[in-house]
Amino acid sequence: MALDITQVNAKQVNEDSARHVMVSWAVQKAANADPLVVSGASGSWFWDSDGKRYLDFSSQLINSNLGHQHPKVVAAIKEQAEKLCYIGPNFQNEARSTLARMLADRTPGDLTKTFFTNGGAEANENAIKMARAYTGRHKVITRYRSYHGATAGAITFSGDNRRWANEPAVSGIVRVQDPYPYRCNFKDCGEVCSMTCARNIEDVLSFEGPDNVAAILVEVITGTNGIFVPPPDYLPYLRQLCDKHGIMLIFDEVMTGFGRTGKWFAADYYGVQPDIMTFAKGVNSGYVPLGGAIISQKLSDYFEDKMFWGGLTYSGHPLACAAGIATLEAYEEDGAIENSARLGEKLLAELNALKEKHPSVGDVRGLGLFCGVELVKDRQTREGLPPWNGKDQTLTSKLKKALMDRGVFVFCRYNMLFIAPPLTITEDELMVGVRAVDEALSIADEAAAAS
Ligand SMILES: Cc1ncc(COP(=O)(O)O)c(C=O)c1O
Repeated sequence: MALDITQVNAKQVNEDSARHVMVSWAVQKAANADPLVVSGASGSWFWDSDGKRYLDFSSQLINSNLGHQHPKVVAAIKEQAEKLCYIGPNFQNEARSTLARMLADRTPGDLTKTFFTNGGAEANENAIKMARAYTGRHKVITRYRSYHGATAGAITFSGDNRRWANEPAVSGIVRVQDPYPYRCNFKDCGEVCSMTCARNIEDVLSFEGPDNVAAILVEVITGTNGIFVPPPDYLPYLRQLCDKHGIMLIFDEVMTGFGRTGKWFAADYYGVQPDIMTFAKGVNSGYVPLGGAIISQKLSDYFEDKMFWGGLTYSGHPLACAAGIATLEAYEEDGAIENSARLGEKLLAELNALKEKHPSVGDVRGLGLFCGVELVKDRQTREGLPPWNGKDQTLTSKLKKALMDRGVFVFCRYNMLFIAPPLTITEDELMVGVRAVDEALSIADEAAAAS
C-alpha cells in the first residue's frame, strides 16, 4: 500500500500538544512522554509522521468499524459539506431524517424514533431522562463492571473505577453484579453463567422498591470492563423483569452496535427488544461525532403530546448523519457484518490457541470481531496480571509498547487486551495482528513466572 505521507511538523505538533492539549483519561505528562503523531490512515492501517505503519487491531476506541478513510464515507461528508454543513435541530434536514429511517429499519422490533446526540455518553444521559419522564420514577439499575460515558450522569451510571474521582454525582443509581463467569461472585455459579446475578436483580428490586425504578441500563455485551457475553437467557430474563415491574429496559449498544459482534446489533443474538437502545461509535465509524437513543413506538407515542426536556445544538448534525447513511450502506455493500461474523470465529480460535501456548492467558472470550484476552499471574488463583483497578500499569504499558514496536495497535486496560479490528479487515491482516499478540504475550508469561 502506498502511504500518503502528509508533511507534518511532528516536533511542532508535540510541543503544541504538550503545552495546550488536555488528553483524555491521562496524567498529562505521561500522555506526552512517548508521543506518536498520526499523519494518515487507510483501511485497517494508520501511520506516523515517519511513515511507520500500524495495524489498527482495536479500531481505535472500538469505533472505526469500517476502518480508516472509507472512500464512500469521505465522499458523503464532502458532498454534504457542499450542500449544508449545519442547520439547527428544530429544522428538518434530509440527512437526519434518512438516517433515522435507516436506523428504525435495522434496529430490533419496533424501535422507531431517534434522538441524535454527539456521542455515547449523551445518548445514555438522554435515554435515562426519557425513561424517568415516561415512568415518573427516579432510580436506575446499572452494573458494576460497566462503562456508559464520561459526562456527570453517564459516569455515575457506569460502575467502573473511572467514576470514583467524579463522585458524588447524580443520585438514584443502584449497581448490581455482572454475568462474568470467569470471576463470578456467586457461589453456585461455575464456568457457565447460571444467572444467579440476574435473579439477584429481583432481590435488589424488592429492596429498592420496584415502583421507584425507572430503568435497567446494561451493555448487551460488556465492553471496556472485560467483554462478557451473557448466557442466552440473561437478556430475556431482564426483559421479563422489566415488563413485570413497568421498568424501561435500556440497551447500551454504543460499542457492540453496527456489526461489531457479527450481527447488526448484539441484541439480535438474543431476540430481545429494549425500550430504548443507545448507540454511537460504529454508526458512522467515528468519522464525525454522532450518537443517539432510539425509542420504541410506545415511548414515541408518549412524547407525541408530552414535552421532551432535552436538547443539543448539534442534534442530528447534517455532516455526522450523512456519514452515518454512507456507513450503513457501506456495511451492506462491503459485506462487513458477515466478515465480522466469519473472521470473528477465526479470531476467537486463534486467540484460544494462544491461550494453550501462553500460561499468562487466563481466559479468552468474545463474539464477532469483539474479543478479549484476560491475563493472570496464575491460572489456579486467577489473580490479575496486573490487578484490575490496580495502580501499577507498568506491564500493561510494556505490552502496548511491544505491540506498537511490532506495528500493531491494541487497546489495553489493566489485564485485558481488547482485540476488535475494523470489520473490513482481511484474513492476512488479522494474522499479522495475531502473530504480534503471540510475540508480545511472552512478556506477560515472563512477568507471570517472576511473580
Ligand atoms: C458501552 C459504552 N457506552 C458509552 C460510551 C461513551 O461513549 P462516548 O465516549 O462517545 O461518550 C462508551 C465509550 O467507550 C462505551 O463503550
